[in-house]
Order: sequence, then structure tokens, then C-alpha cells
Amino acid sequence: MTIKQSALKTYQLLKATADVAEKSLEGRIQHYRAHLKSEEKELRTYTQKAAADLLGCNNRTLKRRHDQGDFDHIEIRRGANGHYAYTLSNIYAMAEVMGIDADHRDKDDKLQVIVINSLKGGCGKTTSMVNIAAALATTNIKRYRIGIIDLDPQGSSSSFFPPSEPDPITVGDLMRDCIDLEENETWEQIVSDAFLPTHIPNIRVLPSGMDDFYFEHEIATILRESANYDQTRHYHKLLEKVIEPVKDQFDIILIDTAPSLNFMFYNALMASTSMLIPVHPEAVDFDANNKYLKRLGEIYHTVAALGHDGWDFMQFLVTNYVKGNHSQRDIVKDVRSAFGRQVMSYPINHSSAITASSSSFNTIFDQKTSDSLASRESLVKAQENIKDVVDELEMLIRSNWPSTQSQLEATK
Ligand SMILES: Nc1ncnc2c1ncn2[C@@H]1O[C@H](COP(=O)(O)OP(=O)(O)O)[C@@H](O)[C@H]1O
Ligand SMILES: [Mg+2]
Repeated sequence: MTIKQSALKTYQLLKATADVAEKSLEGRIQHYRAHLKSEEKELRTYTQKAAADLLGCNNRTLKRRHDQGDFDHIEIRRGANGHYAYTLSNIYAMAEVMGIDADHRDKDDKLQVIVINSLKGGCGKTTSMVNIAAALATTNIKRYRIGIIDLDPQGSSSSFFPPSEPDPITVGDLMRDCIDLEENETWEQIVSDAFLPTHIPNIRVLPSGMDDFYFEHEIATILRESANYDQTRHYHKLLEKVIEPVKDQFDIILIDTAPSLNFMFYNALMASTSMLIPVHPEAVDFDANNKYLKRLGEIYHTVAALGHDGWDFMQFLVTNYVKGNHSQRDIVKDVRSAFGRQVMSYPINHSSAITASSSSFNTIFDQKTSDSLASRESLVKAQENIKDVVDELEMLIRSNWPSTQSQLEATK
């Protein structure tokens, strides 16, 4: 095979550019790492009033409990003003004292594995997912055990929930099976340890890394070389193999994906129990979404043939919606008339608080109103908005849990 002189020049140019890009990327990654050290990232603290709200009691009850010494064994810091500054872990410990049980799923309730996907880049997959996860974890006292799997090798959601280790095992490492087990180590333990704690006490993250990009290439090579289709079937189930050993440790797993219908995505579908599709209400994005749905149907056919159990729900979520924008409003109307009840009741509105917090890889629930770069009003509004979305999501999740059904029956 001869390579043309002109192609060789292009190749050399590309190599030189790649070298520059790699150096720049290394610098940026180091910068991010320094910036994102998990021990530096702290969840907001709560005032006594906010803690009481979360615990479903009033300020006076908490004060009385303090006076009685009920919380003396909990290490609660005080802020500069001398008032208690409760961490979420403090509040969980207080809930234990107060007999407020965690509201986890029962053993007959299926772990919910929700995939967030759309073929459209920039439609708000990551932003919506990280804020939904944070709201599920921090705005109630149920103490859901939440797992985040970052299936986008660009690692955006891992940046919002920086793993507690500098060089963590990634989801791609586990799926590619490139971990050598040492003596006495089990696959179950490795996987469980790979879901690292984050700054939010009940959220653990299985991060992604740049090397996870190799996954697609490796799988493509394996499939090309494999003569027998049946032998290749388990390559669709690699993510299931990662989730299986930790199933009992979570109530809800959220999976962020790249805007691509690649092999990682097949794996996400295979492991999923439900699907959330963000739709940015712009004409081109809505058209792209409709084309995507056709492809999704075709892909799902393959996944169904491999034994998938079907989804508990598939919902569209309108994202980054600018209130008062007429053309966006018309598109949302179209989305609703096309997909009816499959569209979440509330859109996630465009919010300056979300823009501001995202720029420092924070969710809007990480920060106190006083720390936000946006106005207090816009932060509160955005938090209320996400909370509305999460309430509906929680209802969808719980309606598939028999234990919730029987709780409802009992209160009839
Ligand atoms: N509700 C929102 N309010 C403000 N900005 C948003 C909102 N949703 C998304 N964005 C912004 O839009 C851009 C793309 O969002 P992102 O979540 O990264 O999309 P994706 O993951 O689909 O590629 C980001 O800059 C993000 O901050
Ligand atoms: Mg993303």
C-alpha cells in the first residue's frame, strides 16, 4: 500500500497537532484534578431551621433534643456566628436518634437503573442528571442509596462528583476487564470498591476516564474477528456484569451517557430498567430527537433479542427551557402533543443559577444560597424546579416498587 505524499503531510500535521493537544490536555487534567480534589469539595452545611425542615420537625424540637443531650455523640461544627452548621451526615445521624428510618427499597423492589441518553450533544444530559441525583439525595431524609455511572469517557458527571481517589478504577476498566485480581481479591470486592464515595454521603460514583474511549475500538475488533454471533452476545452485557455485584448496595443507579449509539450505549440499555431522554426545545434539536427515536427503536430490538426485561418507564424531559420564549413554547407543545404523558410534567428551566454552579462543577444543591454566584432568588427557584422534577421521577420509580404499593394500600 502506498501512501500519497499529500496524505503523508496531513498525517504529519495531525501528529504534530495531537502532540500539542495532548500536552494541553495533560495540563488541563492536572488543573482539574487540583481543582477537584474531593477532600476539598464539601457539601453545603445546613442551618438549624434547614435541618429541622429536612427532619420534618420544628426548630424547637431540635433545640430540645440538643438540650437533652440526645445529639451529644454527633460531632456538629459551629459556624463563625456560633450557630450549628449541620452536615448532611450530621442530619442522618440525628435522624437515627429520632427514629426516622431510611426509606430504602425492600428486597422485592427492583433496583432502578435509569439511563439518561439522547443523540444530541449539549441537550442537558449531564446537567440534568447531576442535579437530579443531588436533589434525590439531599432534599429528603429518605437516604436513598444512589449510584452514578459515568459512561461518557469525557467524564463530565465525574467532575461534578469527583471521586475520592486521584487515579480511580473507571467503568471502562471494569467493562474491559483489565483489572488483575490479586490473591484474596474478588471481582465483587473490586467492583464494590470502584463505586467511590463522593462529597454527598449517600451518592457513590463509578467514574469514567479517557482510556474508556478504547472500549469501542476493542469491542469492534473483537466482534470483527469473531465468526460466531452467539459468542459475541456477552459483549452487550458487560455493564450488567459490573452492576450485578453491587445490586444490593443501591436503590437507584443513574447512568450518564455520551451522545452516541455506541457499544457503551448498548451496554447501558441492556443494564437499564428505565430511560430518561432530555429534549432541548429548539427546532433542530427536536428534529434530531425524532430521528434518534427511530434508531433507538432499532437498537432496542437487538437488546430485546438478547433478553432485556423491558423498561418500567421511558420519559422525555424538556431541558434548559427558556420561559417566555415563544418558539420554545411552541416546540414544547409539539413535544407534549406527540408524546403525551411520556413527557415529564415539569421542564428543567434554563437558570442562571445552574449556569453559574455548573461552571465550577457544582450542582445547585451543593451550595448555600449565600455562596452562589447567582442571585439567591434564582438559586431557590432552580432548586424548587428540580425538586418538582425529582418528585415526579420518584413517583415513577416508587410506583414500580411493590413495597410502595403495599404502603399505599395500607393507608387507604
Ligand atoms: N437548565 C439549564 N440552565 C442553564 N444551563 C444549562 C441547563 N441545562 C444545561 N445547561 C448548559 O448547557 C450546556 C450543555 O449541557 P450538558 O448537560 O453538558 O449537555 P450534554 O450532557 O447533553 O452534552 C452546558 O453548558 C450546561 O451548563
Ligand atoms: Mg454530557
